Amino acid sequence: MNFIRNSTSKLPSRVLDPRNALFLGSTHSFNPPCYEHELFCKGKAFLLNSNKNSQFHAYPSRFQRLINNAQKSNCVPSTAFAQPMAISMPYGLSVDATVASKVRHLSTSVETNINDSTFERIHIQNSISVKPKNLAGEETPLDEDGHNVKNTGKGLEEGKGGVSIDSDIEKEAWKLLRDAVVTYCGYPVGTVAANDPCDKLPLNYDQVFIRDFVPSALAFLLKGEGEIVKNFLLHTLQLQSWEKTVDCYSPGQGLMPASFKVRTVPIDDNKFEEVLDPDFGEAAIGRVAPVDSGLWWIILLRAYGKITGDYSLQERVDVQTGMKLILNLCLADGFDMFPSLLVTDGSCMIDRRMGIHGHPLEIQALFYAALRSSREMLTNEGSNNLVRAINNRLNALSFHIREYYWVDMKKINEIYRYKTEEYSMDATNKFNIYPEQIPSWLMDWIPEEGGYLIGNLQPAHMDFRFFTLGNLWSIVSSLGTPRQNEAILNLIEYKWNDIVGHMPLKICYPAIENEEWRIITGCDPKNTPWSYHNGGSWPTLLWQFTLACIKMGRLELAHKAIALAEKRLSREHWPEYYDTRSGKFIGKQSRLYQTWTIAGFLTSKMMAKNPEMASLLFWEEDFELLEICVCALSKSSRVRCSRGAAKSQILV
Ligand code: GLC
Repeated sequence: MNFIRNSTSKLPSRVLDPRNALFLGSTHSFNPPCYEHELFCKGKAFLLNSNKNSQFHAYPSRFQRLINNAQKSNCVPSTAFAQPMAISMPYGLSVDATVASKVRHLSTSVETNINDSTFERIHIQNSISVKPKNLAGEETPLDEDGHNVKNTGKGLEEGKGGVSIDSDIEKEAWKLLRDAVVTYCGYPVGTVAANDPCDKLPLNYDQVFIRDFVPSALAFLLKGEGEIVKNFLLHTLQLQSWEKTVDCYSPGQGLMPASFKVRTVPIDDNKFEEVLDPDFGEAAIGRVAPVDSGLWWIILLRAYGKITGDYSLQERVDVQTGMKLILNLCLADGFDMFPSLLVTDGSCMIDRRMGIHGHPLEIQALFYAALRSSREMLTNEGSNNLVRAINNRLNALSFHIREYYWVDMKKINEIYRYKTEEYSMDATNKFNIYPEQIPSWLMDWIPEEGGYLIGNLQPAHMDFRFFTLGNLWSIVSSLGTPRQNEAILNLIEYKWNDIVGHMPLKICYPAIENEEWRIITGCDPKNTPWSYHNGGSWPTLLWQFTLACIKMGRLELAHKAIALAEKRLSREHWPEYYDTRSGKFIGKQSRLYQTWTIAGFLTSKMMAKNPEMASLLFWEEDFELLEICVCALSKSSRVRCSRGAAKSQILV
């Protein structure tokens, strides 16, 4: 305990992580980081293989936070935390409560003072066997199939108006989706990524991916079955990292895993127990950091409240704390000068090297949606600084993307005539883009009407590829202006054969080929031109397209795309992705019975049948936010006010 008291700001957070709890309980003294890594590995192995003595068998990656209403009476009274007191921890460890409380103040955060009372109410018990049924603290009835609960929320009741009959394909899809459900201690907590019985090498496709679960969650929510979503949100919250460890380096708290697996491990007397084993990218191919997971988690949390009408989940102290941890991680200051999030390659749906490191649109659009979601959900208590930071960021981010990522015929013509090497605050060509980098395909491709947001922006580099997910989420979240959002859908309509073709929708357009493919993908045989992430077609993108169409009043476009998918998906066993320029063939290495293909189809169908309900999932332009000038918020006198430019983007 003395060691903890005297440690530097980073150490206590390690100590609080159960993965490192072994470290405390062991006889080792302080060791250099690499040794800690070894301990981490042992810790994990211990948890998974020999945790007979462990009282902490439910959640291997995070010390238990109690969320059960029924157990609230066990909570330590808030006043008690003013005094040092022991918190019991897994493995019989204990940590001085004032130290634990300090840990939260020491993180690099916009709002470092996560309210003490927040933390006080997080109860840590040493005899843990929390089952999902306890998470809600209430009895939830199962339906006839024993599958799930009915929502009682207002939101759902309102939308239930017209009951529609499922087609045979929808019935099949529902059966497959239910078969993909993963249970933990008997309760549904997610869906596996793919459920192909013939797949001899499932790799990590037998895991629950955070991003993949989103369309499953929406399908269940729209069907009136909220329990699985609630369980998923609460269990992944338990997995949220207090410390990520990849090769001896621990960047920060708040990261959500890319995926998790329910493992069955032996204990005494031929007995088994289940553990949740998260992957933060440390086992993933390429060791990619799942930056989008936390953003999706926040977006889904909002969707759960909106659709079920059960806002009590997002108001819970542990949920609020988890949300703040994600936000703090995203809003922490770094070296970057842009309001967009700086990430490594492969940090989102495209989770392999595809030249999207830097400030990829997909992450920016999800970030924007997550910030807007959080602003709606943060409870007042002690969140003022954080809300201020969110507002500032929303404002700056939308300005940045609308101004610098947008291209249409007019803008490309401007870039074509750019002067370069401009040194001044007034530069037009701020990022020093050499016109020669405008790709020849784009000169031919860009239509007279319509436009889109480019894939990425770096000094002297614009990635002109069209990335579908980022553009769709810019529409859904109103990151783009109303006119831009409309123009994006126009472009998709004009370029239907390229972006939709035989199967909606292309993940990006066009594919990179030849020398560019060699250098950018590192000769990735899975990402060959017009395959997988490199210009492949992903049916899961259909639900986000449908949502964007509903928002922009273009439902007929969505219907057209849904009809294309409906013609093939079931017949071809719900592939993960399609290959070739027009999406004609099932992907070379495509999984079959891919869950987010199935769920994406169902969600699209349900949203198209009930657009009013779908409208709960998107955001309109926030005019109040836009009125604030980006630079008025800057303390730096070097920054010139670009109110004019900002205003020009506010299109009514
Ligand atoms: C692939 C995809 C990724 C997805 C995962 C599971 O790695 O690129 O986006 O989450 O498969 O389906």
